[in-house]
Amino acid sequence: MSPDRNPLRLGSIAPNFDAETTQGPIKFHDFIGNSWAILFSHPADFTPVCTTELGVVARLQPKFDERNVKVIGLSANGLESHEAWIKDINEVNNVEVKFPIIADADRKISTLYDMLDYQDLTNLDAKGIPFTVRSVFIIDPKKTIRLTLSYPASTGRNFDEILRVVDSLQLGDKNRITTPANWKHGDDVIVHPSVSNEEAATLFPGFKTVKPYLRFATQPGTQPATA
Ligand code: BEZ
Repeated sequence: MSPDRNPLRLGSIAPNFDAETTQGPIKFHDFIGNSWAILFSHPADFTPVCTTELGVVARLQPKFDERNVKVIGLSANGLESHEAWIKDINEVNNVEVKFPIIADADRKISTLYDMLDYQDLTNLDAKGIPFTVRSVFIIDPKKTIRLTLSYPASTGRNFDEILRVVDSLQLGDKNRITTPANWKHGDDVIVHPSVSNEEAATLFPGFKTVKPYLRFATQPGTQPATA
């Protein structure tokens, strides 16, 4: 890695850190282990959009588990506040939050991950120090950053989209494919441009050529079983 490389760029190793969370202290890389991870920040505890977002993430927990993805939230408040807020999230959304939330009142981790809000002047604590924007990092088991997103405090995220990206990345890691616009799990995929037609005939029997550079195939793993 060159010394001036942005450590948060796609392909960089996600910066490691120690943190206090609602499920005890962690070292981030040890927490990830052999799983994928989604690290996501939200502006602050006891805020309306965040309360709905964390409910959605809690409801999607089985889908993250199926994909071997560990989810971890972060907001710039302390542990006591997080713990009290989780009770509200569970009550309002009729869920049980099972993922940890990092307590980052001193903004150590939000600064490391460039999550602080420099745009929304309503997204500040009582001392005028910025809270975080809605950042998302998808990190693979090698601890490589595979996706980054930054949403403004005022816009709740679409976590189905984040799961969709996980599906695309995991499928692309196992097969020489890419995924088209608006693709979702089960739809046809695109044969990777690096695959020759000869290789494609073996890897993706029955693939369809729309243009020499645009070839579609059935999503690997979804072919009907042969008798
Ligand atoms: C919210 O979560 O509702 C929110 C937080 C900070 C600024 C704006 C909205």
